[in-house]
This record gives sequence, C-alpha cells and structure tokens, in this order.
Amino acid sequence: MKGVQAVRLQVATLQELTVQTGRVVKVDGREIALFRLSTGEVRAVENRCPHKGGPLAEGIVCGEYVFCPLHDWKICLRDGNVQAPDNGCVTTFQVDVVNEKVYISM
Ligand code: FES
Repeated sequence: MKGVQAVRLQVATLQELTVQTGRVVKVDGREIALFRLSTGEVRAVENRCPHKGGPLAEGIVCGEYVFCPLHDWKICLRDGNVQAPDNGCVTTFQVDVVNEKVYISM
C-alpha cells in the first residue's frame, strides 16, 4: 500500500518576502503565513492562531517566533509550538528555497 505523498508547491519568490514581515498565500482555500527570518530562513505556518484564530501573518516577528496580533501568544515558527505559559500548536509546513523560489510541502 502506498503512503500519502507530499505535494510541493511554489508559493512565492524570495524577493516577495520582506524580512520579519508575514505574507499570506492561499493554497486550496487554506491560508498559510510565510515568514522570512533575519537569518534568511523561510518558515511557513497555518495563518490561524490556535487560541482564537488570530491572523499570525500580521504578528510581530522576533527571532524565530511570532507574537499573535490579537492576544500576544508567542509561537515558534520552527515547530509551531505555543510558548508557556500558554499552550497549543499551529500546523507548520516544510519550506524549500530553490533558485530564489519558495516552495512548501503539504
Ligand atoms: S487569537 Fe492569537 S493569542 Fe488569541
């Protein structure tokens, strides 16, 4: 029996991503927040805070964390985990950058 294959899609170019500023892309009706970190790495998470659905792409980015714009929960962009004292997790997506093109795997 075959496993489910991840689909890799180009969602942006590096030039379209401003460092430490979120950008929303829609894939199959799903909103994904892309972040280009100050290290140059690109992260992708679902654009929906696990608390009350805040738009994470509008949050403040600090290092590899984003602070939700609604109630300031701190979420790790590497693994999607909400930081204490709050808890929860947001879906993350694998990102690959090839020739300045940004791909995510779903
Ligand atoms: S909706 Fe994100 S912290 Fe409340």
